[in-house]
Amino acid sequence: MDWKLTFRVLFTATALAGVAVSGRTSLGVEPAESVSVALRSFNKAAEADGSAIVDRGRHFLGVGSCSASNCHGGDGTRGAVGSEYSIWIQADKHAEAFSVLYNETSQRMARLLKLDKPAHQAVLCLNCHAPQNDPPFARASSHESLSALLDGVSCEACHGAASDWLGPHVRRDWSKKSSAAKAALGFRDTRDLWTRGKACADCHVGEAGRDVNHDLYAAGHPRLFFEMSAFNANMPAHWDRNDDRERTGPSRDKSSFEAKLWAIGQLASAEAALDLLIHRADTARDDFVLIEKAAKYPSDETVAVWPEFAETGCFACHHNLDSPSWRQKRGYASRNAGGYPWGTWLFPILPTVVEVAGSADLTIAENPLARLTAEMARPYPNRTTVVSAAKELQAVLTKSAQTINSRQLTAEQIAGWMMDVSTVGMSASQQSWDGATQSWLSLTAIHQGWSDVSGTSSGARSEMSRQINSSLEQIRGHLEFPVDFDSPRNFTADPATAITTELKKIHDILK
Ligand code: HEC
Ligand code: HEC
Ligand code: HEC
Ligand code: HEC
Repeated sequence: MDWKLTFRVLFTATALAGVAVSGRTSLGVEPAESVSVALRSFNKAAEADGSAIVDRGRHFLGVGSCSASNCHGGDGTRGAVGSEYSIWIQADKHAEAFSVLYNETSQRMARLLKLDKPAHQAVLCLNCHAPQNDPPFARASSHESLSALLDGVSCEACHGAASDWLGPHVRRDWSKKSSAAKAALGFRDTRDLWTRGKACADCHVGEAGRDVNHDLYAAGHPRLFFEMSAFNANMPAHWDRNDDRERTGPSRDKSSFEAKLWAIGQLASAEAALDLLIHRADTARDDFVLIEKAAKYPSDETVAVWPEFAETGCFACHHNLDSPSWRQKRGYASRNAGGYPWGTWLFPILPTVVEVAGSADLTIAENPLARLTAEMARPYPNRTTVVSAAKELQAVLTKSAQTINSRQLTAEQIAGWMMDVSTVGMSASQQSWDGATQSWLSLTAIHQGWSDVSGTSSGARSEMSRQINSSLEQIRGHLEFPVDFDSPRNFTADPATAITTELKKIHDILK
């Protein structure tokens, strides 16, 4: 399993602090080594067959349309603005997303899945690693030319297919157009945090047509553990981070940027996961015809399996069977022993976010999240029940995001969030490594937001901040995987208790 990379991203999230972008100088543009390897090994037949352009509709025009030096291909001497392409091609992993489909892991995945095509030609992979169109992916990406695919995850994958907006966006009146008018042309306004969160979640959580399920994991795909604050901080910014913070919110309340990004990221990720769950419920078949048919795994779709293990806490199944077991001692919260712990990654802190938005109470007995979790714990969840609870919950999440997006936050409110998260985190950490890690990531992000709002000038505040940081550092130590392991092998009662102790300290410091 190749989780180390992803994992590193989570644990460098402390890079959140001091996000002002360093003025880059002279970004020479060199194609990454792996891209030229990809070029050499590309299957000629596919290339020939690929140049055929079928019905377009709204489609990607390719990086070539953005990279001119007087557009977005500047040399970085004047900071990020105007040098977006140069930063992307040089520093951003998205630019390599297609060429990784040639690496050993990808080749092995294709073999293990018995794909009828190599990974770099499989729509299954290309829809995330080199999309050529916005969903619903009108045309098969495998029929693209190599040069288009080489763009990997390019500008339009996040900013929207440009066939209708490329022209308009260089005209003078573009900046006066409303977000809605731009959206009507297919442009995604990534300044809006909900839009941004959803754009990332399309691939980092998944959606219909973009699905990393347990089959892909079993074949070796890294686990998708998306968390907005960490991933936003870890993407090499081709924008001005200070500007980004300042223009958020109704009154350019720079200060609450990190806290809002975290909260809205939680909501957008969960909303995307629910979409995928609904899609899986709708397309799974009781008679498993698809799976039988698929002695070879279809290279243009994911096989919908029900229930989908990828949504369940991985380490619930993948762990040592010690006796006596700390899990048995710990108990199973609201589950029966042996029930699936569904949604351990994206959902443990969510009730707090919804609560602070005031849209619903997901802690009371009868609520859509509790219904969903209970149904998904069963060996064969009822799909109708699941879909109706998921839709109800989605409505709550969307409403919460609107509320938070339009709010200006005070230091007291953000401190309140931290206290709430530390409380929920204490029980989430007892349940799983996922819950503990989400608690840590959440507190890291909100703490940054809190420091921004309250400033570090006041002596008392900065002493509190120092103590919180020291607890967060302790927690992080307990979360790291042991050397040579790709799982939290040592995460049992002791670290869970130690983490809970630190969370309690954070809670008490704020009180
Ligand atoms: C739902 C979108 C999605 C699909 C479908 C998908 N991937 Fe990925 N893949 C990702 C994302 C996102 C990452 C980065 C994960 C991270 O670092 O958090 C990734 C990472 C990878 C990596 C690790 C890259 C590295 O730098 O080491 C490989 C290899 C890979 N994918 C291969 C494949 C193959 C092969 C397929 C098809 C069988 C596939 N992926 C399908 C989204 C997807
Ligand atoms: C993985 C997603 C992603 C990709 C790929 C991407 N961007 Fe961005 N881009 C963002 C985000 C997030 C922001 C910050 C929010 C904003 O300013 O809209 C941003 C900001 C920008 C801005 C600044 C907008 C402003 O108002 O300051 C420009 C211009 C831009 N991107 C152009 C590009 C170009 C050109 C490419 C391709 C070379 C590209 N982007 C690729 C996500 C992406
Ligand atoms: C079209 C699909 C897609 C979209 C949209 C997308 N990503 Fe990615 N992202 C990927 C893939 C695929 C990779 C893996 C690339 C690789 O390893 O070569 C990746 C990798 C990353 C990485 C590096 C992870 C690592 O392991 O080093 C970060 C950080 C990241 N994405 C952040 C974001 C953010 C933030 C957004 C939204 C603004 C976003 N991505 C939108 C597909 C996407
Ligand atoms: C409900 C139980 C269950 C859950 C939850 C589960 N798996 Fe699995 N997993 C299995 C089974 C069963 C196999 C097949 C083992 C075999 O063939 O030896 C497997 C195999 C694997 C394999 C390949 C074999 C190995 O042990 O290396 C990987 C990798 C894997 N799972 C990753 C994951 C990831 C990542 C998650 C969470 C996103 C996850 N699994 C969640 C039951 C589960």
